[in-house]
Amino acid sequence: MQSCTIVIFGATGDLSKKKLLPALYHLDAENRLTDDTRIICMGRSESAQDEWKQQVEGYVTPKARGGVNADVLSRFLDRLTYFKCDINEAFSYHQLNKLITTEENGFSQNIVFYLSISPALFSVVGDQLTAVGLNSEEHGWRRLVVEKPFGYDQKSAEDLERILSKNFTEKQTYRIDHYLGKGTVQNIFVFRFANLLLEPLWNRNYIDHVQITHAEQQGVGGRAGYYDGSGALRDMIQSHLMQVMALVAMEPPADLDDESLRDEKVKVLKAIRPITEDMVDDHAFRGQYAAGEVNGKPEPGYLEDADVPNDSVTETYAAMKIYIDNWRWRDVPFYLRTGKCMPESKAMIAIRFKKPPQELFKDTHIGDSHANWIVMGLQPDNTLRIELQAKQPGLELKSQTVALETVESDENKHRLDAYEALILDAIIGDRSLFLRADEVNLAWKVVDPVLNKWAKDKSFVHTYPAGTWGPEEVSRLQDNPCHAWRNNV
Ligand code: BG6
Repeated sequence: MQSCTIVIFGATGDLSKKKLLPALYHLDAENRLTDDTRIICMGRSESAQDEWKQQVEGYVTPKARGGVNADVLSRFLDRLTYFKCDINEAFSYHQLNKLITTEENGFSQNIVFYLSISPALFSVVGDQLTAVGLNSEEHGWRRLVVEKPFGYDQKSAEDLERILSKNFTEKQTYRIDHYLGKGTVQNIFVFRFANLLLEPLWNRNYIDHVQITHAEQQGVGGRAGYYDGSGALRDMIQSHLMQVMALVAMEPPADLDDESLRDEKVKVLKAIRPITEDMVDDHAFRGQYAAGEVNGKPEPGYLEDADVPNDSVTETYAAMKIYIDNWRWRDVPFYLRTGKCMPESKAMIAIRFKKPPQELFKDTHIGDSHANWIVMGLQPDNTLRIELQAKQPGLELKSQTVALETVESDENKHRLDAYEALILDAIIGDRSLFLRADEVNLAWKVVDPVLNKWAKDKSFVHTYPAGTWGPEEVSRLQDNPCHAWRNNV
């Protein structure tokens, strides 16, 4: 463990209240913060220290697993300093520098700057931190943690990179994709590379296709301002689902070094068959929810949201078919889909195997063979299911699907939040679960033509009633009826 100072820009914002501060509390509860680790919370408005601590108590208490522990809470609140900052003003950074570097104040000179602010402000914050020397590693390490969105398309992502790299090196930059902090997503890696059984089957010779689904019941409620300019393809597929796909498809890395892992993910992204604008309709599909019912409750349509322009064609549902042109995966479709206002909130990977080469049971009661599936539930539960065919008991030769399935104990269900794992890694200096600039760039390269085409087609978007699995017309992406979406683990 290393002592450090964590400076949160945007500490009064939503992410900080809901995720960052509760995650830091939990790290404290797990004794993962050294005694002298301190947290500076940067906010725009005036606030007395006690008032701020009271507010933080209010954010942390309802999130504390197993109830809040009074001793941990008081220790945690003692670590906090509220700092009123005008983000555009040089004076604020001089004051911040003075606060941190004055020895009597006792701040560690290892510093994590966490930017939970609009990317439009990254430039000014980077420049101002540099102007007062806070990016220099002369007296301790300095790390910059940044949140998505990493740009709006490939070009803007490159611009953003230029801005970040002006003041911080790649080694100092930690780009968060919170999906990589989920224990269940890391489990893909363990499942693949800690078992010998699967590896010989994990390729185009045996796998027919792969489906990666992220569905959520909630709509865009409260976030329409951001969401309408983004849409599901940028919000989920370009980032989280492409990362999940890369973990499913990558080659085993040489070792667990952060660069080795990221090199392998990059190779997958580089091998994706380009989708040109004229191919978009065969490879991508968008939909938008109309009024419906989710979980028994009426849900207004996307266009009824006051912050959404009434001619918006922004997609709340997106699906893609991707091919990875390498020896392992050539011609195996990877279907990725995500949607808001779906019947369930779940994320899963479903892998369908090919059928046996000979239909030996064709003329028996068994008939045509069924394909095997491996299904990994990523959330809400972490499950693994391998489906096989077996003979039904009795005199007839009939088959049934049986499953080898993991059962998650209640204890395991109390999982860490992704942010706990990622903040800890930023403190430790392990970058393997953070994105490298080239990964981000390549993921944009894949979706850019789709985004361009959709931006031009402003007249029509398929709709689906809230509470359903998306428009049926999405089936036009599927090469074969057996590629129909699987909705259940
Ligand atoms: C965020 C998206 O990155 O991920 C949200 O901006 C989405 O729109 C969320 O709801 C999904 O994350 P999770 O962890 O709830 O699956």
